[in-house]
Amino acid sequence: MRIVSGIQPTGNLHLGNYLGAIRNWVRMQDDVGSSGGECLFFLADLHAISMPHVPADLAANTREMVAALVACGIDPARSTLFNQAQIPAHAELQWLLNGTARMGWLNRMTQFKDKSGKNREGASIALFTYPVLQAADVLLYQATHVPVGEDQKQHLELARDIAQKFNNDFGNGAGIFTLPDPIIPPDAARIMSLRDGSAKMSKSDPSDMSRINLTDDADTIMQKVKKARTDPEPLPAEASGLAGRPEAANLVGIYAVLADSSVEAVLADYAGKGFGAFKPALGELLVDRLAPINARFVELRQDRAALDAILKAGAGKARALAAPTLAAACDALGLVRG
Ligand code: TYM
Repeated sequence: MRIVSGIQPTGNLHLGNYLGAIRNWVRMQDDVGSSGGECLFFLADLHAISMPHVPADLAANTREMVAALVACGIDPARSTLFNQAQIPAHAELQWLLNGTARMGWLNRMTQFKDKSGKNREGASIALFTYPVLQAADVLLYQATHVPVGEDQKQHLELARDIAQKFNNDFGNGAGIFTLPDPIIPPDAARIMSLRDGSAKMSKSDPSDMSRINLTDDADTIMQKVKKARTDPEPLPAEASGLAGRPEAANLVGIYAVLADSSVEAVLADYAGKGFGAFKPALGELLVDRLAPINARFVELRQDRAALDAILKAGAGKARALAAPTLAAACDALGLVRG
């Protein structure tokens, strides 16, 4: 198994990233590593320039995200941890795949529609071709599995379509690229905003009250949970009673995942109780789970030289793994490279 996944370094890690993706990365590192597989995790800094950004913030956020991932349990000695910008092969392969990806395929990508909003004409070309870079990210390393949240599923399907077409058109029967399978956690695939149960928890939400950041201190977490939007009904006894109650379903779901339990078991404990009782319990559980990560993060983020050294070492390993696939793709396309 070769596991590959990425995260944009565009601000703090939040609970959606953690439960939807990073917690899985850490588990896979432990499982896959012990069975001879390999894990590569990277900061998608090249993706981050598809939206307006402040260069100094991107550099600072890239280092902070390394500290956050290590604080969550990613071990650079066992996993290859790097940023895209140090491996030119990502951008090179994206260009090669641009010849295979179809306009119609990209026109169907919902994230482009969401992120460009009403300003499609003013969106960057990078935002439009973003999913092709994402395909290059995983195909470059012959990824077999890609752990992501639900919102990235469509991008992964596109990566498979691109790989399949490239293999058919240029592979001469040989599989130049491996078709990667997404791994989406069934119970934390989509953590929703604390202010709106119909929107996903996101870094780009202007309200910080909508998300729990992994850097939030205990008081902030308790406040955010207390202010989270809910409805006036008590909690039901059965999961089916959460239908049509997205905010309640989200909070119960978060509790269940954090407690390594199930929605049914949580409801068995809280059936008939109101949010006045449930919210403090959820807040305490969050603080309990996130405090150790927060403490490690605060310590690690100060050592810029150590963070840069992690990225440099990771980039060295990633470059070596990427080279044969890039060379095979160039050969297949008839590109002469000396
Ligand atoms: P990004 O940076 O938005 O998110 C990183 C990971 O967190 C997951 N996630 C969530 N999961 C559950 N609930 C949420 N509210 C939530 N918000 C975010 C995302 O699904 C993702 O797994 N395009 C990607 C980065 C990327 C990538 C890749 C991922 C670039 N290249 C190659 C996998 C493989 C992104 O913007 O994720």
